[in-house]
Parts: sequence; C-alpha cells; structure tokens
Amino acid sequence: MSNKQTLGTAVITGASSGLGAELANQLASKGYNLKLVARRADRLEALATTLRGKYGVTVTNIVADLGAPADLKKVADNISSDAEITMLINNAGTVTLAKSVETTVEKQLEMINVNITGITLLANAVLPGFKARNNGTLINIASVLGLHSLDFTAVYSGTKAYVVNYTRGLQEEFKDTNVRIQVVLPASTDTEIWEVGGLSVAVLPPETVMTITDCVNAILTGLEKGENLTLPSVNDDALIKAYDEARIKLFSASQTGKPASRYTTA
Ligand SMILES: NC(=O)c1ccc[n+]([C@@H]2O[C@H](COP(=O)([O-])OP(=O)(O)OC[C@H]3O[C@@H](n4cnc5c(N)ncnc54)[C@H](OP(=O)(O)O)[C@@H]3O)[C@@H](O)[C@H]2O)c1
Repeated sequence: MSNKQTLGTAVITGASSGLGAELANQLASKGYNLKLVARRADRLEALATTLRGKYGVTVTNIVADLGAPADLKKVADNISSDAEITMLINNAGTVTLAKSVETTVEKQLEMINVNITGITLLANAVLPGFKARNNGTLINIASVLGLHSLDFTAVYSGTKAYVVNYTRGLQEEFKDTNVRIQVVLPASTDTEIWEVGGLSVAVLPPETVMTITDCVNAILTGLEKGENLTLPSVNDDALIKAYDEARIKLFSASQTGKPASRYTTA
C-alpha cells in the first residue's frame, strides 16, 4: 500500500490563507490528499495547483461560506459520505475585534456561525465515520482567547471558549478509541485575520507575534506527541498542567450539593 493510501484525505477548512494554507502545504508534503474549504475560490485553486505539482497529491476544493447554512450543509454532506477522510482540521474562523456595543449583531452572529456552528456541524459530519472505522483525527483550532477575554473580544473569546470545551467533551467521549482529537490554542500569529478583525497586526509588539510556519510546526508536532491541548507559544509545561489540574479540581469541588458557607452565614 502506498504512503498516500495509508494517510488518506485531510479536510482543511479556511485553507485559502494563514494557518490553513500552511497546514495544507505541510500535510501535502507528508503525502495526505486534501479537501480544501474556504470562500475565496481563486486562492484555493492557486494553492491546489501548487500542491498537486509539488507533491503529486490529490487536492479537491470546496468553495463554501461556512457561515451560510446551505453551504455548510453542502460541505457536511460531501465529507460525511467520503470514507477516505482520515483527518478534519476545523481551522476556518473569523473575528471582529470591537467592543460589543460598537459592533453589529450581524458581525457577532457571523463569529458564532463560523466559529461555533460551523465546526460543530463539520465534526458531526466525520465523527460517526471515524467511530465506525475506529480511526481518524480531528483538530479544532481555538485560541488562547478561549481561556481569556478582553474588552474587545467578548464574542470571539466566547466562541473560542466553546471550541475548547466542546473539544474537551469530545475527547472524553472518544477516549477509549483510536480516534485522535486535539484542540489548539494559538496566541497572536501573523495572518490576515487581524485585518479581517479590523486591527493591524503591526500594532502588536513584534516579539509577541508568531510566524505562520512556527505555529503550524507546533500544531503538527503537538499532534505527533499525542497532545490533547496544544498551546504553541506557551513554554512552561508545568503551567499548562497546573491550569488543567486546577480546572478539574474546581469542577470536582462544585459537586457538594450544598450552598457554600459564604452564602449561608451572615
Ligand atoms: N492569527 C492569529 O493570531 C490567531 C490566534 C488564535 C487563533 N487563531 C485561529 O486560527 C484559525 C485560522 O485563522 P488564521 O489566523 O490563519 O487567519 P486567516 O488567514 O484570516 O484565515 C482564516 C481562514 O478562514 C476562512 N474563513 C473565514 N470565514 C469563513 C467563512 N465564512 N466560510 C469559509 N471560510 C471562512 C478564510 O477563508 P475565506 O476568507 O477565503 O473564506 C481563511 O482561509 C482561526 O480559527 C482563528 O480564529 C488565529
């Protein structure tokens, strides 16, 4: 069996730029066939042509607006019926960086539709097949803003917190299977999303901004290491462990069935 047949097809959403385009490049270089999803057909076609020529892999593009229910269904139907798919990277995401009272409900709903509804429906499209075949990899791209919120990221942070907790639940659900599920929490990375969000990446201290290649290398290294939670820019392993342990400890401490004494004493 050739390498390509063994690896199967990786679906990458948001492959027309940034992390998604580099993920496509690196996975093609390993021998994955690809299904690439985004709205900008010209970008996808240029990338697909390059990757086919460079690596000899099969690349299929699905042009779709993942914030639009009909397009989302089209993508979900396509990938749910493709047994060659061994990996889904839910990478597409959008942001509006603005205080909630200074943006529109439409902009807020766009984040919810793409970052929450989109990833959920696409995960639903592949997970039954992964489960039946007891094989497959799901990577959900969240953000460090899934752990934290700023005064201009309330909705974006809320959507990425969903991605983090949604993925944690799926990891519990699939923990006794061969299905691999990883959630990635990048910090600032030099992609077009900053312009999309209304802020130039140039306003950030340059030393806090990661390159696309470094971020994607970290994502795929984290996957190879078997990580459930990948924080590309956090150097302190012990801090990640302490955070996760504190989160679980706090949840356990809530299972008392009684009001805490601070609510019962005057
Ligand atoms: N860059 C950062 O600092 C950073 C930090 C933490 C997390 N992230 C996350 O990383 C992921 C990748 O973003 P990026 O930084 O690489 O930004 P990017 O270069 O702007 O890429 C975003 C991708 O998502 C696609 N997309 C956006 N809205 C879509 C829609 N309605 N339908 C279909 N595709 C859509 C875009 O394609 P089209 O426009 O062609 O549709 C594009 O390919 C996102 O989930 C983002 O939230 C980024």
